[in-house]
Amino acid sequence: MTRAEPSATAAPSETPPKKQKHKLRWTAGTWLLVKRVGRDYVRDHIRNILLALLFMLLAAGSASALPYVIKYMLDDALNAGDLTSLYSIAAFMPILGIVRGGASWGHSVFMHSVAFAIIRDIQNNMFSRILHQDLTFFAHFGAGNLISRVTYDTNQLRNGLERCILGIGRDLTMLVGLTVSMFYLNWQLAILAFFVIPLAVFPIMRIGRRLRKVSINTQEHMERVTTLLDETIRGNRQVKAYGMEITEEQRFSEATQALYQLQVKGIRTRSFSHPVMETMIGCIIALVLLVGGHLVITDHTVTAGDFLGFLTAALMTYQPMRSLASLNAALQEGVAAGQRIFGLIDTLPEIQDTPTATPLSLGQGPEIRFEKVNFRYEDTLVLKDLSLTVPAQKKVALVGPSGAGKSTILNLIPRFYDIETGRLSLDDHDLRDATLSSLRSHVALVTQEVVLFDDTIYANIAYGRPGASREEVITAAKFAGAHDFISHFEEGYDTPVGPRGTKLSGGQAQRVSIARAMLKDAPILLLDEATSALDTESERHIQRALHSLMEGRTTLVIAHRLSTVMDADIIYVIENGHVAEYGTHAELLETKGPYARLYALQFTAEAGSERLDPTPSV
Ligand SMILES: Nc1ncnc2c1ncn2[C@@H]1O[C@H](COP(=O)(O)OP(=O)(O)O)[C@@H](O)[C@H]1O
Ligand SMILES: [Mg+2]
Repeated sequence: MTRAEPSATAAPSETPPKKQKHKLRWTAGTWLLVKRVGRDYVRDHIRNILLALLFMLLAAGSASALPYVIKYMLDDALNAGDLTSLYSIAAFMPILGIVRGGASWGHSVFMHSVAFAIIRDIQNNMFSRILHQDLTFFAHFGAGNLISRVTYDTNQLRNGLERCILGIGRDLTMLVGLTVSMFYLNWQLAILAFFVIPLAVFPIMRIGRRLRKVSINTQEHMERVTTLLDETIRGNRQVKAYGMEITEEQRFSEATQALYQLQVKGIRTRSFSHPVMETMIGCIIALVLLVGGHLVITDHTVTAGDFLGFLTAALMTYQPMRSLASLNAALQEGVAAGQRIFGLIDTLPEIQDTPTATPLSLGQGPEIRFEKVNFRYEDTLVLKDLSLTVPAQKKVALVGPSGAGKSTILNLIPRFYDIETGRLSLDDHDLRDATLSSLRSHVALVTQEVVLFDDTIYANIAYGRPGASREEVITAAKFAGAHDFISHFEEGYDTPVGPRGTKLSGGQAQRVSIARAMLKDAPILLLDEATSALDTESERHIQRALHSLMEGRTTLVIAHRLSTVMDADIIYVIENGHVAEYGTHAELLETKGPYARLYALQFTAEAGSERLDPTPSV
């Protein structure tokens, strides 16, 4: 994804900047990824990591003592017939057990807490990154994709991380300890045994590479599952209304079946390290038995204790070796997850503060001016050379057929999107000279689709201005014509609205969202068919409220019903991304252009039936 590049968008250019395809995968290899996690996330946890390593060393050290115990038991106690030695060796065993157990406990606790903490930090970073993305980003990445990254992928990464720490801390140190023991007990045998190890390296690497591929595939299918879940939960009403339950079940079970197959493929690949390692260990043991046994029987330079101790050490290498063999697999899965995670973290929002941006501070409604603005979503040019002015503290209406670009015009003002060429200014200050947060604090937007959060009505209104007093919230609700229906609820303002406001009717939810915008008290008011969801009676009521709200503010309103914008200071008729004509209601009727036709159409329709509303979307 492209990084914010202010210069590319600030200057009008002949050819539009080609927007990059969104991929959201960091194409770094294992080493870069490990380095990055180390640099960005491990630093804060050095203390706990050192503690974990310390415990691991202790565990590995105590494990390496076991071959010696065997050796002394055979040579000093049993062969020499020394009971005191036997007793002291027996007494030593529980102590060894306690040390090993305690060390295991310690390393497990510290290591896992480090891994959990790192994942927590990564998840917070991901969330913050998602939160600050622009609308273009969300048009590409649905909830399913992002949710599975934050939950499933981070889990995969954690697994890889833990295995890495374990591999280096426990398995490697244990292996080193045992190797030292083996060399100490009989270096010739030790060299012999280690000649076999390289044989296993090649297949283990291969398994890792394959597993990374499977893992990437699995993540993508996991994403499909979360996406389906998200869609069917949110669109549950539609699913029911169209009786699509069986189809949805089929789609879901196809997705989980694909996931299942990939997971089986993954486990098949991953588990292949077992036969590889078993065979290798088998060969080592056979060699040790053959050569070592020979030395004990024929040579007598090697004692039975040495031999058995060595054999114990060789057998004990089995567990850490097996674990190290699967380490690569876990690491590769972690890398696959990490690529998606850091791909997201590295995706900067395209719309950002320019380096020279300063906070905007306007007391009253400013003049909004579009000058020869071109704008495109992806490939299609939606606004073409559009110029229009909303005079300071006036009410301007946009009308025109649906798909003409009216909502797009509104969305450009809070910089939900950036224009391609042309100029967009507030009181003659280019929008991009202001910081985003200050710009958006000046704008209150009410759209037809209402977004409420799963909280109380009170909290949903107060969202407009954190820190507002209860009186202010109630005043805003009264203004928006919401106070009456809120008071009828048993819990009043503390009534929960349900997920996405599902417990309120469309009109009620709309009034709550208007109250929220009123509370925000911003100098620019943008209304995108804000009252279309209401019946004529409530619409009239709110129109009155909106009227007093518009005092001293600059208002740009898109209206479904022309009757609500007849009093606008200027009406712009938008057709196909540009201004077809503009003027006051009276002027436009006189010119008998597109507006007059729209008006005639609605007038006859409304005269025919007051609320059947067969009007085309205007
Ligand atoms: N997020 C988007 N991505 C791509 N195209 C879009 C997007 N939003 C709107 N469009 C397209 O832009 C055009 C104008 O849309 P819009 O401004 O919503 O029209 P209006 O509000 O006048 O009905 C339409 O053709 C629509 O298909
Ligand atoms: Mg629209």
